[in-house]
Amino acid sequence: MQVVEKIQDLKHIINQLRQEGQSIGFVPTMGFLHEGHLSLVRAARRENDFVVVSIFVNPIQFGAGEDYEDYPRDLERDQHLASQAGCDLIFSPTVTEMYPAGYATYVEVEQLTDTLCGSHRPGHFRGVTTVVAKLFNLVMPHRVYFGQKDAQQALVLNKMVLDLNMDLQFQIQPTVREEDGLAMSSRNKYLDPKQRREAAVLFKSLQEAEKMIQSGEIKAGSVKHAMDELIRGGSDSEIEYVEIVDIQSLRPVETIQGQCLVALAVRFGKTRLIDNIIVEV
Ligand code: PAJ
Repeated sequence: MQVVEKIQDLKHIINQLRQEGQSIGFVPTMGFLHEGHLSLVRAARRENDFVVVSIFVNPIQFGAGEDYEDYPRDLERDQHLASQAGCDLIFSPTVTEMYPAGYATYVEVEQLTDTLCGSHRPGHFRGVTTVVAKLFNLVMPHRVYFGQKDAQQALVLNKMVLDLNMDLQFQIQPTVREEDGLAMSSRNKYLDPKQRREAAVLFKSLQEAEKMIQSGEIKAGSVKHAMDELIRGGSDSEIEYVEIVDIQSLRPVETIQGQCLVALAVRFGKTRLIDNIIVEV
């Protein structure tokens, strides 16, 4: 497996692969890899000749006071895990390689970014779409792989691909969870043992929502209320949002019908966790 830091070196390799007619699968990450990331790498391995993983903690998607500086980093460990999962090349550029002095171009998807995490993290998705658009231009992948865990991010990026006529296949893979249901995340590392135990309540609340909806509850308000109570009762945490939205528009619904996303963001101390499930009526 190769590790490449320079854009010029990456371009050289990609051009060669493209000339040889090899298909390229791409998994963008911020590193500190876990089974969630690795499930994407394995999917890319199954479906492509060559697999690229990017590891780049993207400063422009972090707001002031967020955890950019503290974000966990361990490139050596990541290299080992990515290679075992079938990665052929890791692209891990420096910040100045991606954003040299005078950098001035940003990509912004409207509407889908106004709700859920978008309304609580101003500028976040603009940072995500910008870096991912740049990475797509550099890696020139045939297929790209994202996780359902970050459902809004996946929908926003898929919209960018459609709106900007990017010629690639967009794949969303299921959320990988710990044994107690907690969605895997690089940020779980921040949780102390008590918070880690309590964080299992997030998936429990999503399961409760699913159960209520399957038993015929269609009032979003009632489901959200029950989730709220469960989370508050089972943890020392602060709810940022618990929301039920239309899967396409990401607008909150009052009545649950068709495919909806039940999504939440909850803080345990300074650690912000998100999770979601899709429900269908
Ligand atoms: P990161 O949080 O490292 O996640 C990289 C990819 O792994 C994303 O597509 C995310 O949805 C997926 N992922 C994370 N946890 C997962 C889990 N438990 N199960 C399945 N997939 C999971 O998301 C980002 O990085 C960045 O915003 C990025 C897209 C790389 C742009 O900087």
